[in-house]
Amino acid sequence: MMEKYISNIKTPKISIAPMVDKSHRHFRYFCRLMNKEILLYTEMVTAQAILNGELDKILYFREEEGNVALQIAASNPEDAYKAVKKANSYNYSEINLNCGCPSDRVSGNLMGAALMSDRKLVYEILLAMKEATNKPITIKHRIGIDGTGIIQDKNAKVIMDGYYDLLEFLDTVSKAKPDRYTVHARSAILKGLSPKDNREIPPLDYDMVYRLKKDFDYLNIEINGGFKTVESIKDALTKVDGVMIGRAAYEDCYLLANLQKVDNENLKPISRGEIIKSYIPYVKEEIANGSNVHLLAAPLHSLFQGQPGSKQYKQLLSSGNIKKDTFVQILYNILESMPENSLWC
Ligand SMILES: Cc1cc2nc3c(=O)[nH]c(=O)nc-3n(C[C@H](O)[C@H](O)[C@H](O)COP(=O)(O)O)c2cc1C
Repeated sequence: MMEKYISNIKTPKISIAPMVDKSHRHFRYFCRLMNKEILLYTEMVTAQAILNGELDKILYFREEEGNVALQIAASNPEDAYKAVKKANSYNYSEINLNCGCPSDRVSGNLMGAALMSDRKLVYEILLAMKEATNKPITIKHRIGIDGTGIIQDKNAKVIMDGYYDLLEFLDTVSKAKPDRYTVHARSAILKGLSPKDNREIPPLDYDMVYRLKKDFDYLNIEINGGFKTVESIKDALTKVDGVMIGRAAYEDCYLLANLQKVDNENLKPISRGEIIKSYIPYVKEEIANGSNVHLLAAPLHSLFQGQPGSKQYKQLLSSGNIKKDTFVQILYNILESMPENSLWC
């Protein structure tokens, strides 16, 4: 029986997915300039990294980023408990457990999507995380997995395929009372497909996620996978509590500014020029603090996606051009080349 736990967590309508090598703190700062309401996720951080690494390097973020969820990957309750305890001293608004990553490195260590094969273990990890903090604990998972050739444990559920397998998983997991379920509407195939293929080849099944919300309307459900337009996101929001956006946030980042309209149709999104202007002081400070200039430039790349001049803009920001002492000037040059009220803005 699914646990009838009604979380009082506020589910934001839109969140930006945890994405290794993408959703670093500069990217999140940049996203926040465009949209004040969205929830931002960190890249996945393993519990082991939190336990053994340099904490500030891994977990520090600036207050201006607003609501940020820390995503951890863990393979046992002990590590998860200790990692969340350590993370408590940083101001994350919630902590999320990764049960969706199909990477060999992660699934080989029974983390990420592979964890779904052992639902009791997921329950125990979530419970440990809950015990370690007063913050909301959430989970991100797939609609199913195929762990053939990777998952060796005889008691594990190697293949989870279909709605009833998903319900069986959630029946157990819900007993730990997670505050939100982010469901990537694709199965993960753990052997033979790269993480990239695992985001493209297994078909999207939105209906399974919508059915879940319909059958268990008291659960906080966020859908993920393939959302790229304001219209498709608005449509999904009529069926679930939230929508998580992954690749579109870095392939066409101005979408985030346009998504302010989800809450207020009449709102004029911040212009591209204003976004660059607001980012410059941050860039100056971060360069002065020794931050990597290429990481600072990365979030800007898709700002003019689909706009006239996009190609020239990308060339200006190409890695050969970007240096510690040229980057800010390049940004000023971009601003200067933007005629008032032009499509560039
Ligand atoms: C570059 C990249 C890195 C990712 N890293 C993570 C991660 O750290 N944790 C995670 O749960 N999912 C990760 N994902 C998966 C995304 O969070 C998301 O579930 C997936 O991209 C599907 O959403 P989309 O179709 O909107 O991109 C990653 C995806 C990409 C493209």
